[in-house]
Amino acid sequence: MSRISLNTTQLIFLLQIQSALLTLGVSFAAAVPVLDAVDNYFVNNKTGNRFQIVGVAYQPGGEAGYKPAQKLDPLSNKDNCLRDAALLQIMGVNTIRVYNLDPNLNHDECASIFNAAGMYMLIDVNSPLVGEALTSFNPWESYYAAYLNRTFAVVEAFKNYPNTLAFFSGNEVMNNPNTAKDVPPYSRAVTRDLKTYVAKHSTRHIPVGYSAADVREILSDSFNFFQCAEQGETNDMSRVDIFALNSYSWCGNSSFHDSGYETLVKDFTGSSVPVFYSEYGCNKVSPRVFTEVPTIYSSNMTGVFSGGVVYQYTQEDNNFGLVNISSNGSIALLPDFVTLRNQFAKLNFTQIQSDKRPSGPAPKPPVCNSNLITGMAFNSNFTLPVLPPNASEIIEKGVTLPSVPKIVSISDFTVKYTVTNVDGSIIPDLAVKKLADDQFNSRTSLLSYLSCLKHKNGHTFL
Ligand SMILES: *[C@@H]1O[C@H](CO)[C@@H](O)[C@H](O)[C@H]1NC(C)=O
Ligand SMILES: *[C@@H]1O[C@H](CO)[C@@H](O)[C@H](O)[C@H]1NC(C)=O
Ligand SMILES: *[C@@H]1O[C@H](CO)[C@@H](O)[C@H](O)[C@H]1NC(C)=O
Ligand SMILES: *[C@@H]1O[C@H](CO)[C@@H](O)[C@H](O)[C@H]1NC(C)=O
Ligand SMILES: *[C@@H]1O[C@H](CO)[C@@H](O)[C@H](O)[C@H]1NC(C)=O
Ligand SMILES: *[C@@H]1O[C@H](CO)[C@@H](O)[C@H](O)[C@H]1NC(C)=O
Ligand SMILES: *[C@@H]1O[C@H](CO)[C@@H](O)[C@H](O)[C@H]1NC(C)=O
Ligand SMILES: *[C@@H]1O[C@H](CO)[C@@H](O)[C@H](O)[C@H]1NC(C)=O
Repeated sequence: MSRISLNTTQLIFLLQIQSALLTLGVSFAAAVPVLDAVDNYFVNNKTGNRFQIVGVAYQPGGEAGYKPAQKLDPLSNKDNCLRDAALLQIMGVNTIRVYNLDPNLNHDECASIFNAAGMYMLIDVNSPLVGEALTSFNPWESYYAAYLNRTFAVVEAFKNYPNTLAFFSGNEVMNNPNTAKDVPPYSRAVTRDLKTYVAKHSTRHIPVGYSAADVREILSDSFNFFQCAEQGETNDMSRVDIFALNSYSWCGNSSFHDSGYETLVKDFTGSSVPVFYSEYGCNKVSPRVFTEVPTIYSSNMTGVFSGGVVYQYTQEDNNFGLVNISSNGSIALLPDFVTLRNQFAKLNFTQIQSDKRPSGPAPKPPVCNSNLITGMAFNSNFTLPVLPPNASEIIEKGVTLPSVPKIVSISDFTVKYTVTNVDGSIIPDLAVKKLADDQFNSRTSLLSYLSCLKHKNGHTFL
């Protein structure tokens, strides 16, 4: 514990500064430290420490949880976010991935709740609705101004929150060799357009990248297609800032070798951008054992990978849930919640989050060239499509939303819904624990809160 002692004069001086700032209307909303993708790692720019993602995919209701017509998306209901942030916080999660969002809804309360709970957000700018994503076939038919406007609107909706970690310009747009025939230049063009928008309209740099399907035949080509840089361009606007992978190859009690993780580490060694799992958690063996967790955060992987995101928080038809939400908002923990929590609890996050960026020179991106591409069917045309008509005007002017997104203060952090443990008992007194400024969540930073909850709840839950 660090202690700072102040004498009376210093204290009065600080109070004067504080009241002066309050008079000016400056708010003291505590915030997570800003992170950025610097070379091949996520870095806390203040401390220089690397950051490992301890994430969970957050998609209550599955794809159907996104209902713009009914003004619903996963980050638009304060009480739901409080309930879920409280549970994810207990697990030690520091990042959520959110797929389908309506930029016209107000996300201030949910973003502020997750921020207070010390969690970053990985935001997908696309959705499964027509006109809201690049299509895997004939991508030129879906690359038009109104589509790009939608992606810029999502940037606009999240760029002001300090806990926005990155934007995904695409998710598995290519999932087999056939889809890689035409998509790559279009997907890289969307990345370029988003980065251009961020550079013009965001006060801080926010990384933009791609979330790839773990399909052997196209993975390394996809990686090279997205991470390469034009010759002589140190700041190529179309190259990804991060590259992520949805990987389901570790099932049950697998191992670093048998799961193929070892091969992935070899394949991504020397990456010029941060690499991480944007989804993991195979459920072919169910209930899941999550024995990949200690490996992902071990020295076998952390030099090359920056953690990962477990798929997924809620139980849906595809049977990947950590919790089961009923229609009245009450929630039941599933066995996978407890198993994953136990795996996270065994890790030493103080140590995991304290690696420094190595000093020497960082790996350089390869130069874009058709000889980088090995697959016969994989597109190797690095001349990207130009902006569609009217799109540059939208980038120039910026997208206007119904209200300007901002962090707001949350007065009551208590969970309003019933939460049931795996044994059927009700867990009382749940709340989001607001973290101090400049902190992100980990079980280590919650120890006293956890032991207090444990005291109230007995030993099965925490
Ligand atoms: C973080 O530091 C890097 C260089 O060390 C710099 O390029 C980048 O702009 C910084 N990011 C933020 C958000 O301050
Ligand atoms: C762009 O998006 C904003 C926010 O959703 C919307 O109000 C506007 O009509 C859109 N403009 C175009 C040209 O699609
Ligand atoms: C995994 O290994 C553990 C410990 O060896 C064992 O108890 C468990 O039954 C195994 N689970 C599966 C699904 O193979
Ligand atoms: C690290 O890799 C070695 C060599 O493959 C393996 O024996 C060991 O079990 C791995 N450790 C973890 C935590 O996966
Ligand atoms: C989830 O809850 C519903 C009722 O709300 C129930 O029908 C279903 O069996 C539950 N699923 C699991 C995996 O417990
Ligand atoms: C909510 O739904 C669950 C599952 O269907 C049920 O067990 C519980 O009693 C309901 N709670 C309330 C407050 O209605
Ligand atoms: C966790 O790691 C830190 C830093 O390496 C170390 O000081 C501490 O003793 C470790 N904690 C445990 C419980 O091993
Ligand atoms: C490469 O893509 C550009 C832009 O779409 C196009 O103009 C050009 O004809 C393509 N080149 C080849 C060889 O297909």
